[in-house]
Amino acid sequence: MRTAILACALPLAALCDTAAAEGTEPYLQEGGVVIDGTFYTAGDIETGASIFLRRCSQCHGLDRTNYKAPWLNGILGRPSASVGDWAYSEPFRAWGGTWTVENLRAWLSKPQDFIPGTEMNFGGFRRSAEDRDRVIAYLVAHSLAERAGAGPDAGE
Ligand code: HEC
Repeated sequence: MRTAILACALPLAALCDTAAAEGTEPYLQEGGVVIDGTFYTAGDIETGASIFLRRCSQCHGLDRTNYKAPWLNGILGRPSASVGDWAYSEPFRAWGGTWTVENLRAWLSKPQDFIPGTEMNFGGFRRSAEDRDRVIAYLVAHSLAERAGAGPDAGE
């Protein structure tokens, strides 16, 4: 279940200060990940992983391998269309944005609305913002764990 973080617990004050200093950037916290002030538990991330398995992994890898789509390691903060050996579509390359949480939310809600003409053949999470956010929590936790040096399989 998601729990909104209303106040920083005392032992975590130092961690909270760091996060505050970094603005709204997501960060890992014991047992989960905080995104825009919302705590996603290990259970949420696990649910996100199973959604990824069902709805994304037939095309995307998280193992730095391109299958039917570019790999998604380190997607948080990654410039779009930056996997060097992937042939992105023209409209997608023309977008030129960066994968913030906000952009991931808009993209995964309805890819064809966000970047008309994209070759990502996925209808989007039109009715379930919760599933969308849990798959994003999984991808973000994976990115942050990799960044922290936990290895390529971190967050799996
Ligand atoms: C049917 C295959 C397919 C499915 C399913 C799919 N994608 Fe994609 N995805 C693509 C393709 C192809 C692109 C490149 C789009 C282009 O070039 O227009 C892409 C691009 C992306 C990008 C941008 C990558 C970059 O390098 O900038 C993200 C992020 C992404 N997909 C996330 C997801 C997530 C999360 C899911 C599951 C909820 C998903 N995709 C489901 C095929 C797919």
